[in-house]
Amino acid sequence: MINTVDELFANNKGVLAMDESNGTCNKRFAAVGIAQTVDMRRNYRELIITTPGLQESIGGAILCDETIRQQTNDGVPMIDILIKNGIIPGIKVDTGAKPMAAFPGEKITEGLDGLRERLGEYKKMGARFAKWRGVIKIGENIPTSGCIEANVHALARYAALCQETGIVPIIEPEVLMEGDHSLQKCFDVTTRTLKMLFYQLYQYKIVLEGMILKPNMIIPGTQSAERKSIDEVADATVDCLLQSVPAAMPAIAFLSGGQSPEDASAHLNGIHTNFKNRLPWIVAFSFARAIQQPALDIWKGQEAHVKEAQNLLYQRAKMDAAARRGEYNKNMEKI
Ligand code: 13P
Repeated sequence: MINTVDELFANNKGVLAMDESNGTCNKRFAAVGIAQTVDMRRNYRELIITTPGLQESIGGAILCDETIRQQTNDGVPMIDILIKNGIIPGIKVDTGAKPMAAFPGEKITEGLDGLRERLGEYKKMGARFAKWRGVIKIGENIPTSGCIEANVHALARYAALCQETGIVPIIEPEVLMEGDHSLQKCFDVTTRTLKMLFYQLYQYKIVLEGMILKPNMIIPGTQSAERKSIDEVADATVDCLLQSVPAAMPAIAFLSGGQSPEDASAHLNGIHTNFKNRLPWIVAFSFARAIQQPALDIWKGQEAHVKEAQNLLYQRAKMDAAARRGEYNKNMEKI
């Protein structure tokens, strides 16, 4: 498991999240006028994994159940293409965030039942890491301790089953950007969540050296009037993580959470330029939207646009790898 973590992030690479559930993928397709069918999802995932040179910046790709079982239009299993290209396949194993009984406005992520068997099956298929996402929403009187506790408990139980199977768990407690909250509120809720998470990971005997944390950055809510600079976001994010995440944990890979691709790259870059040698962990990316969105917008489901979409995907991943080195700047976007 320790080797898997090292390989995923070697040479400033990161992880590509392409594990949208069918429902989420269909929603993204509908927004840009693409038919919401199994064949279109196949075409899209095939476009992504056959992007020339993607492995220069991407060490691992998280798939959903449909994709890990799917073949390309030429009949080659998607997972085989990733492995052949040197991209480690991962698998999303939660079954989604559902409304939490007795906790209005909050959600609990499900999927623990039968997880041991499913992990065993995915391992046989070739998956070497997994992902589970808990969702914490900021609003009036939320999040409650009950909701945070239930979600970090599930994350710990999931992580234990992964490690039993020899699969690296990506542990994703996402504090959502939606809302009118301040950066300080995001800082407070994320700190509280991470402290509760690492206590549960301790209680449930998770080997910190064999896991990856996938947190949100510390950013004001999308409906907040507050505007923060790249440096302010970078500094608050590292401050929060230094206070909450043990140094024995090897790697942090951020989600993008709805930031623009440029902002996500700039914030990751700010973290590296401002804290160069003072980060006790690998600090990388595991973006979905911030890598995929420009490509999806151009592709629009049309064969004629595949090349252009792949170029954008390649470029976006390259920007994020540059951000890991602290070498990203906005001028690179014009290339
Ligand atoms: P975003 O980068 O679009 O937030 O997605 C990351 C992810 O994997 C959510 O579970």
